[in-house]
Amino acid sequence: MKSKYLYIRTIGCQMNVYDSERITRGLALLGYEMTTSMRRADVILLNTCAIREKAEQKAFSFLGRLADLKKKNPSLVIGVGGCVAQQQGEKMIRRAPYIDLVFGTHAIHRLPEMIQRIVQRRCRVVDVEMSKEIDEDNTAVTATENGGPSRFVTIMRGCDNFCAYCVVPYVRGRETSRKPDNIVAEIESLVSSGAREVTLLGQNVNSYGKKEGLCSFSELLGRVNAIEGLLRIRFTTSHPKDISEDLIQTYGRLEKLCHHIHLPVQSGSNAVLKRMNRRYTREQYLDKIEALRRICPDIAMSSDFIVGFPGETHEDFQDTLDLIKKVRFDGVYAFKYSDRPNTPSAVFPEKVDETEKAERLQQLFDLQSEISIQKNQVLVGETLTVLVEGESKKQDGTASSAFERGGQWTGRTSSNKIVNFALEKKPVCPDDGIAGRLVDVTIEKAFPHSLWGGLVDPARMKGADCYAA
Ligand code: 5AD
Ligand code: SF4
Repeated sequence: MKSKYLYIRTIGCQMNVYDSERITRGLALLGYEMTTSMRRADVILLNTCAIREKAEQKAFSFLGRLADLKKKNPSLVIGVGGCVAQQQGEKMIRRAPYIDLVFGTHAIHRLPEMIQRIVQRRCRVVDVEMSKEIDEDNTAVTATENGGPSRFVTIMRGCDNFCAYCVVPYVRGRETSRKPDNIVAEIESLVSSGAREVTLLGQNVNSYGKKEGLCSFSELLGRVNAIEGLLRIRFTTSHPKDISEDLIQTYGRLEKLCHHIHLPVQSGSNAVLKRMNRRYTREQYLDKIEALRRICPDIAMSSDFIVGFPGETHEDFQDTLDLIKKVRFDGVYAFKYSDRPNTPSAVFPEKVDETEKAERLQQLFDLQSEISIQKNQVLVGETLTVLVEGESKKQDGTASSAFERGGQWTGRTSSNKIVNFALEKKPVCPDDGIAGRLVDVTIEKAFPHSLWGGLVDPARMKGADCYAA
């Protein structure tokens, strides 16, 4: 039988990465193999993000490039999914007639059947129906699936918070949690296919299970912590208003829980936080940070910021900079405010002008870079345990001695810092090099976004079977 190929492009957050994995798994059952070549593909799928206008533009510019491919190969199936698809529905097909399929954020489990229908009947399908029940896949992770040592698992979908700027509640629907048994079973199967670290995903993981009366999020973490073979647990995203004392305590209790938390604050100004409908003050946020540091003194912190929210004054922005100085985050993600359709803030007055937004963003990044480098410099000389994610690719094409000896590798510390390091000699592991192993690396150099660990002596490698005697 002739092989069939699937090309999938993912834009956006980790949840989209996870959804694309589900799509790949579902289509593998129909005999589709992954390809990195669009020309070779029988099905091209685009998984889109609507969080900011820029992400949406990226989707449309990718789609624009597909018209020609379809002309050359009329049997090619082109599908668009994710948040932009959910928002636009039929409009998408009218705008780009070469699209065969539009599938929303709640339709992923129906995708294999839709693709089959399109291939057999050459029809066009739009499925943006939203449901209350969360969909569970009946496609298990296969033991041969190699998605690397660090994997994502969505534990809940949607959001009920309705922050004034955010499109998520409209494109992902109301908050719904998966059953703990299904989550645990999925993680167990990921571990049996090589995963060593999982990141539990939800828009607001702190409210996991509340609506449905399932277990609490910290209880779920306890169950995941007990999974044999799993080395590390991360989660994202937490909402500062909902992070409970109980969850804070888990940092002192669960040995697999990584010492890092991503706690988006968005702004350091109480006036802006109020208009954003975040439902906490900067003082409450700072209290939570303090409580976390009390339980876990070496916990690394990261956050999200929006600059130039409607009505954000110079003083409001100074409050944001001040909060960054107080917390001293290990890293931040910051974005220029972008109007999103149907969100309350899209019609808020006093829009901040684009140049001003860009200047504020640069100021914020400059301040954070200084802090990040200072915090990373403190680590020089320390030996940190790194979960190896894989071999890093040579950037410049030249053969450095590090690459020639045992390769250059990349991984993360428990605090989520990227560490690159070289090995003194080639590993002779039976599988995929040293990916998935814990390695003790002594830090030699600090950069704003990563650390360099120098040459690692094989004797310090956990899992000595990686080396011939
Ligand atoms: N404009 C800019 N940034 C936004 N985010 C969410 N909505 C918007 C918007 N309309 C940012 C927030 C959120 C992150 C995922 O994206 O900081 O935490
Ligand atoms: Fe959007 Fe707020 Fe929900 Fe996060 S908590 S997804 S920012 S509405």
